[in-house]
Amino acid sequence: MDRFQAADVILQERQLAASAAARLCDLPNGPTAIGYGGARGGGKSHWLLAQLGADDCQKIPALKCLLLRKQAKSNVENFEDFRRRLFTRLPHEFSAFRGILTFKNGSRIVLGHYKTESEIDNFLGIEFDVIAVEEATTLTARKYQDISTCCRSSKPNWRPRIYSTTNPGGVGHAWYRTRFVLPYLEQRETETRFVPARVADNSFNNPEYRQVLENLTGWQKRAWLDGDWDIAAGQYFTTFRRDVHVVGSGPEGPIFDETRAVDWFCAMDYGFAHYTVVLLGCTDGDGNIFIVDEHAERLWLPARHAAAIKAMLGRHGLHPSMLKRFVAGADVFSRQSDGTTVAAQYAKHGINLRVANTDRINGWAEIMTRFGDVDAGIRPTLFVHERCGRLSETLPSLLRDPNRPEDLLKVDADEDGIGGDDAADALRYLVATKNRTITQRKLRGL
Ligand SMILES: Nc1ncnc2c1ncn2[C@@H]1O[C@H](COP(=O)(O)OP(=O)(O)O)[C@@H](O)[C@H]1O
Ligand SMILES: [Mg+2]
Repeated sequence: MDRFQAADVILQERQLAASAAARLCDLPNGPTAIGYGGARGGGKSHWLLAQLGADDCQKIPALKCLLLRKQAKSNVENFEDFRRRLFTRLPHEFSAFRGILTFKNGSRIVLGHYKTESEIDNFLGIEFDVIAVEEATTLTARKYQDISTCCRSSKPNWRPRIYSTTNPGGVGHAWYRTRFVLPYLEQRETETRFVPARVADNSFNNPEYRQVLENLTGWQKRAWLDGDWDIAAGQYFTTFRRDVHVVGSGPEGPIFDETRAVDWFCAMDYGFAHYTVVLLGCTDGDGNIFIVDEHAERLWLPARHAAAIKAMLGRHGLHPSMLKRFVAGADVFSRQSDGTTVAAQYAKHGINLRVANTDRINGWAEIMTRFGDVDAGIRPTLFVHERCGRLSETLPSLLRDPNRPEDLLKVDADEDGIGGDDAADALRYLVATKNRTITQRKLRGL
């Protein structure tokens, strides 16, 4: 507390709890790893730098700390913000070029920015008294293990330790939960201490930020607003409900009237041994998306698919030229051994494909958002016509990837063509790819 006071660093209650846990690492039988994890915006990153710079580095002269962060342009700027705000009262030098911050007593914080996990190894040859890891669930268990073995100290008055901050989700979700969260919940912590973070912990969050988190749905809301770690198993689209999202043209259930369509578009997930799935969708004037028809076949060549796709469009009075866009996964545009592309073959048959937005995580998130959450009173904006049997059967069967909970577990169809995620991929391309014209208009400020 004295050191924080001297540095004019004012921590909030939960951050102080994390600092208290960090101090336990000084005890001979105390913990060696502190995990501070949960909601976004809980004040974790702010704490981590305050703990390193204002407490540990001031307590022990010539302390060597490594702060590992995933490289992104924003990170560098963001570190500058934190540094300026936190260390105004602590004389130090900072070389942005070398990424080293040095305090007057010789204590240092080395910034370890990395793009891929393997680049972390560059920082691990040297001895560090403290290693601080931002967003630890972006790392595999293996890499965290490597980091642990490189955290050692020759200082008699110091026990080496690892501090980490993170949000639930990511490749490291499972190991982090096992190593930090479960011992905490089951009150059997020995070498670790876990401090749960909630958005409400941080009074510096603006109300708009909280609203952004409140507006999330599904696992993201539970993970990023409430800091819930029990999100790794089970169904992916938990808010998908047949009686809500599958519409018909018959007298029962919600109906859909095609004449209300404003724009039409298609998306393809290409396969030969796997299914080629093409979805036909439209928007109405209220921003809803309807998936109106589907084409799903396998072991067909493009010429035959193209004919069937045109026939599908014809059933709705459409022609390929009337579509706002027809998108497909990147594989369709890569050159094959004969120098041609699948896209070129489709072009020969009058179907001009363009590359879809293939970002999985954001794509699934967009679908999830559009499904809304009727139980919570959040209106859906994405509907599937009952004639799209493959898609409507696929959606509720998809599972979360336990090693990457914001992603969907990839599955192939079995020998009988049952299952597989091709229809979901096509839906993702359709929903996540925006109209080029709209973007251009926006760019021109119209
Ligand atoms: N004790 C504090 N004093 C001043 N600002 C704080 C404090 N704790 C957090 N903040 C600010 O709140 C915002 C969110 O905190 P941050 O540490 O980035 O959250 P997280 O890493 O958990 O997502 C940042 O702008 C941060 O500087
Ligand atoms: Mg952070």
